[in-house]
Amino acid sequence: MDDIFSRAERFAESVFSGDSSGHDIYHTLRVHAAARKICGEEGGDERIVRLAALLHDVDDPKLFGDAGYANAVRFMDSEGLPGEEQERIVRIISQISFKGSGSAVPDTLEGKIVQDADRLDAIGAIGIARAFAYGGSRGRPMHIPGEKPRESMTEAEYRSEGTTLNHFYEKLLKLRELMNTDSAREMAERRHAYMEGFLAEFLGEWDGRA
Ligand code: ADP
Ligand code: NI
Repeated sequence: MDDIFSRAERFAESVFSGDSSGHDIYHTLRVHAAARKICGEEGGDERIVRLAALLHDVDDPKLFGDAGYANAVRFMDSEGLPGEEQERIVRIISQISFKGSGSAVPDTLEGKIVQDADRLDAIGAIGIARAFAYGGSRGRPMHIPGEKPRESMTEAEYRSEGTTLNHFYEKLLKLRELMNTDSAREMAERRHAYMEGFLAEFLGEWDGRA
Protein backbone atom coordinates (compact mmCIF):
# COMPACT_ATOMS: atom_id res chain seq x y z
CA MET A 1 0.00 0.00 0.00
CA ASP A 2 1.46 3.35 -0.95
CA ASP A 3 0.51 5.86 1.71
CA ILE A 4 2.55 8.52 3.49
CA PHE A 5 3.60 6.02 6.17
CA SER A 6 5.05 3.51 3.74
CA ARG A 7 6.81 6.35 1.95
CA ALA A 8 8.25 7.55 5.28
CA GLU A 9 9.37 3.98 5.91
CA ARG A 10 11.16 3.78 2.58
CA PHE A 11 12.71 7.20 3.16
CA ALA A 12 14.09 6.12 6.55
CA GLU A 13 15.38 2.91 5.00
CA SER A 14 17.29 4.85 2.37
CA VAL A 15 18.77 7.15 5.00
CA PHE A 16 20.01 4.30 7.21
CA SER A 17 21.35 2.02 4.51
CA GLY A 18 24.77 0.81 5.57
CA ASP A 19 24.63 1.72 9.28
CA SER A 20 25.60 -1.07 11.68
CA SER A 21 25.44 0.74 15.00
CA GLY A 22 21.90 -0.26 15.90
CA HIS A 23 20.18 2.41 13.86
CA ASP A 24 19.01 0.23 11.07
CA ILE A 25 15.55 0.48 9.57
CA TYR A 26 14.36 -2.35 11.81
CA HIS A 27 14.85 -0.22 14.92
CA THR A 28 12.66 2.42 13.30
CA LEU A 29 10.04 -0.18 12.35
CA ARG A 30 9.95 -1.58 15.89
CA VAL A 31 9.59 1.91 17.35
CA HIS A 32 6.81 2.63 14.87
CA ALA A 33 4.97 -0.58 15.78
CA ALA A 34 5.33 0.00 19.53
CA ALA A 35 4.28 3.64 19.21
CA ARG A 36 1.14 2.62 17.30
CA LYS A 37 0.28 0.09 19.95
CA ILE A 38 0.79 2.54 22.81
CA CYS A 39 -1.18 5.20 20.93
CA GLY A 40 -4.05 2.73 20.54
CA GLU A 41 -4.15 2.34 24.31
CA GLU A 42 -3.34 5.86 25.44
CA GLY A 43 -4.92 8.00 22.73
CA GLY A 44 -3.22 10.85 20.88
CA ASP A 45 -3.05 11.87 17.22
CA GLU A 46 -2.07 8.67 15.45
CA ARG A 47 -0.84 10.33 12.26
CA ILE A 48 1.60 12.53 14.17
CA VAL A 49 2.73 9.62 16.36
CA ARG A 50 3.40 7.40 13.34
CA LEU A 51 5.26 10.01 11.29
CA ALA A 52 7.35 11.13 14.27
CA ALA A 53 8.23 7.49 15.03
CA LEU A 54 9.23 6.77 11.43
CA LEU A 55 11.34 9.93 11.23
CA HIS A 56 12.69 10.02 14.79
CA ASP A 57 16.25 8.92 13.98
CA VAL A 58 16.72 10.16 10.41
CA ASP A 59 18.73 13.15 11.68
CA ASP A 60 20.64 11.41 14.48
CA PRO A 61 23.77 13.53 15.10
CA LYS A 62 25.80 10.34 15.69
CA LEU A 63 25.20 9.39 12.07
CA PHE A 64 24.75 12.71 10.33
CA GLY A 65 26.48 15.35 12.46
CA ASP A 66 24.54 18.35 13.68
CA ALA A 67 22.55 19.22 10.60
CA GLY A 68 19.36 20.12 12.46
CA TYR A 69 16.38 18.23 11.08
CA ALA A 70 17.33 18.47 7.43
CA ASN A 71 16.38 14.90 6.49
CA ALA A 72 13.01 14.92 8.26
CA VAL A 73 12.14 18.30 6.79
CA ARG A 74 13.19 17.21 3.31
CA PHE A 75 10.80 14.28 3.51
CA MET A 76 7.94 16.34 4.94
CA ASP A 77 8.43 19.07 2.32
CA SER A 78 8.36 16.46 -0.41
CA GLU A 79 5.00 15.29 0.97
CA GLY A 80 3.68 18.84 1.17
CA LEU A 81 3.00 18.56 4.92
CA PRO A 82 1.62 21.80 6.34
CA GLY A 83 4.04 23.85 8.47
CA GLU A 84 1.99 23.27 11.59
CA GLU A 85 2.28 19.48 11.27
CA GLN A 86 5.97 19.70 10.46
CA GLU A 87 6.55 21.75 13.59
CA ARG A 88 4.75 19.27 15.78
CA ILE A 89 6.80 16.39 14.37
CA VAL A 90 10.15 18.17 14.60
CA ARG A 91 9.34 19.18 18.17
CA ILE A 92 8.77 15.55 19.10
CA ILE A 93 11.99 14.40 17.45
CA SER A 94 13.97 17.10 19.23
CA GLN A 95 12.48 16.22 22.60
CA ILE A 96 12.88 12.46 22.66
CA SER A 97 16.61 11.89 22.60
CA PHE A 98 18.32 11.04 25.85
CA LYS A 99 21.55 13.02 26.17
CA GLY A 100 24.08 12.38 28.93
CA SER A 101 22.40 11.77 32.26
CA GLY A 102 19.62 14.27 31.69
CA SER A 103 16.31 13.50 30.08
CA ALA A 104 13.63 15.72 28.71
CA VAL A 105 9.97 14.93 29.17
CA PRO A 106 8.17 15.76 25.93
CA ASP A 107 5.37 18.25 26.41
CA THR A 108 2.82 16.47 24.23
CA LEU A 109 1.16 13.06 24.56
CA GLU A 110 2.38 12.16 21.07
CA GLY A 111 5.97 12.97 22.08
CA LYS A 112 5.66 10.94 25.26
CA ILE A 113 4.44 7.95 23.26
CA VAL A 114 7.26 8.04 20.72
CA GLN A 115 9.84 8.50 23.47
CA ASP A 116 8.44 5.48 25.32
CA ALA A 117 8.51 3.38 22.15
CA ASP A 118 12.13 4.39 21.46
CA ARG A 119 13.13 3.56 25.04
CA LEU A 120 11.37 0.19 24.95
CA ASP A 121 13.61 -0.77 22.04
CA ALA A 122 16.70 -0.04 24.15
CA ILE A 123 15.76 -2.59 26.83
CA GLY A 124 14.95 -6.30 26.95
CA ALA A 125 16.51 -8.88 24.65
CA ILE A 126 16.71 -6.48 21.74
CA GLY A 127 18.13 -3.76 23.97
CA ILE A 128 20.89 -6.14 25.08
CA ALA A 129 21.72 -7.03 21.48
CA ARG A 130 21.71 -3.38 20.43
CA ALA A 131 23.97 -2.36 23.30
CA PHE A 132 26.64 -4.91 22.33
CA ALA A 133 26.27 -4.14 18.63
CA TYR A 134 26.71 -0.44 19.36
CA GLY A 135 29.63 -1.06 21.74
CA GLY A 136 31.29 -3.28 19.13
CA SER A 137 30.87 -0.64 16.45
CA ARG A 138 32.71 1.82 18.72
CA GLY A 139 35.42 -0.68 19.67
CA ARG A 140 34.36 -0.70 23.29
CA PRO A 141 35.20 -3.51 25.71
CA MET A 142 32.21 -5.55 26.92
CA HIS A 143 33.32 -5.38 30.52
CA ILE A 144 36.35 -4.39 32.59
CA PRO A 145 36.29 -5.77 36.13
CA GLY A 146 36.63 -2.98 38.67
CA GLU A 147 35.51 -0.27 36.28
CA LYS A 148 32.50 1.22 38.00
CA PRO A 149 29.49 2.77 36.27
CA ARG A 150 29.63 6.57 36.23
CA GLU A 151 27.06 8.42 38.30
CA SER A 152 26.82 11.47 36.11
CA MET A 153 28.50 12.51 32.92
CA THR A 154 28.60 15.15 30.27
CA GLU A 155 27.20 14.39 26.85
CA ALA A 156 30.74 13.99 25.45
CA GLU A 157 31.64 11.47 28.17
CA TYR A 158 28.40 9.63 27.56
CA ARG A 159 29.27 9.34 23.88
CA SER A 160 32.95 8.55 24.21
CA GLU A 161 33.92 6.16 26.98
CA GLY A 162 32.85 3.28 29.09
CA THR A 163 32.19 -0.40 28.80
CA THR A 164 29.04 -1.82 27.36
CA LEU A 165 28.21 -3.53 30.65
CA ASN A 166 28.34 -0.20 32.44
CA HIS A 167 25.92 1.21 29.87
CA PHE A 168 23.28 -1.01 31.44
CA TYR A 169 23.77 0.62 34.84
CA GLU A 170 24.26 4.11 33.45
CA LYS A 171 21.25 4.12 31.19
CA LEU A 172 19.33 0.98 30.32
CA LEU A 173 18.24 -0.05 33.83
CA LYS A 174 16.94 3.48 34.41
CA LEU A 175 14.58 3.49 31.48
CA ARG A 176 11.76 1.52 33.13
CA GLU A 177 11.26 4.29 35.68
CA LEU A 178 11.35 6.95 32.99
CA MET A 179 8.44 5.63 30.93
CA ASN A 180 5.79 8.30 30.44
CA THR A 181 2.74 6.12 29.83
CA ASP A 182 1.19 3.23 31.77
CA SER A 183 1.10 1.04 28.65
CA ALA A 184 4.85 1.38 28.14
CA ARG A 185 5.60 0.96 31.84
CA GLU A 186 3.80 -2.35 31.74
CA MET A 187 5.74 -3.53 28.68
CA ALA A 188 8.98 -2.36 30.31
CA GLU A 189 8.54 -4.60 33.37
CA ARG A 190 9.25 -7.86 31.60
CA ARG A 191 12.10 -6.42 29.53
CA HIS A 192 13.70 -4.90 32.63
CA ALA A 193 13.54 -8.21 34.50
CA TYR A 194 15.10 -9.96 31.50
CA MET A 195 18.06 -7.54 31.52
CA GLU A 196 18.56 -8.03 35.25
CA GLY A 197 18.65 -11.79 34.71
CA PHE A 198 21.12 -11.35 31.86
CA LEU A 199 23.45 -9.20 33.96
CA ALA A 200 23.39 -11.69 36.83
CA GLU A 201 24.25 -14.53 34.44
CA PHE A 202 26.94 -12.51 32.67
CA LEU A 203 28.72 -11.55 35.88
CA GLY A 204 28.25 -15.03 37.29
CA GLU A 205 29.95 -16.59 34.28
CA TRP A 206 32.65 -13.94 34.32
CA ASP A 207 33.51 -14.76 37.91
CA GLY A 208 33.34 -18.49 37.33
CA ARG A 209 30.31 -18.82 39.60
CA ALA A 210 27.91 -19.99 36.92
P1 ADP B 1 18.13 5.99 20.25
O1 ADP B 1 18.59 7.06 19.32
O2 ADP B 1 17.44 4.85 19.54
O3 ADP B 1 17.35 6.48 21.40
P2 ADP B 1 20.87 5.87 21.00
O4 ADP B 1 21.22 6.57 19.75
O5 ADP B 1 21.14 6.55 22.29
O6 ADP B 1 19.37 5.36 20.96
O7 ADP B 1 21.57 4.48 21.01
C1 ADP B 1 21.31 3.50 20.05
C2 ADP B 1 21.48 2.14 20.69
O8 ADP B 1 22.81 1.99 21.10
C3 ADP B 1 20.62 1.94 21.94
O9 ADP B 1 20.13 0.64 22.02
C4 ADP B 1 21.57 2.24 23.06
O10 ADP B 1 21.28 1.56 24.25
C5 ADP B 1 22.88 1.79 22.48
N1 ADP B 1 23.94 2.60 23.04
C6 ADP B 1 24.05 3.94 23.08
N2 ADP B 1 25.15 4.33 23.75
C7 ADP B 1 25.74 3.18 24.14
C8 ADP B 1 26.92 2.88 24.88
N3 ADP B 1 27.70 3.82 25.36
N4 ADP B 1 27.21 1.57 25.07
C9 ADP B 1 26.42 0.58 24.60
N5 ADP B 1 25.30 0.81 23.90
C10 ADP B 1 24.97 2.08 23.68
NI1 NI C 1 15.69 5.52 18.14
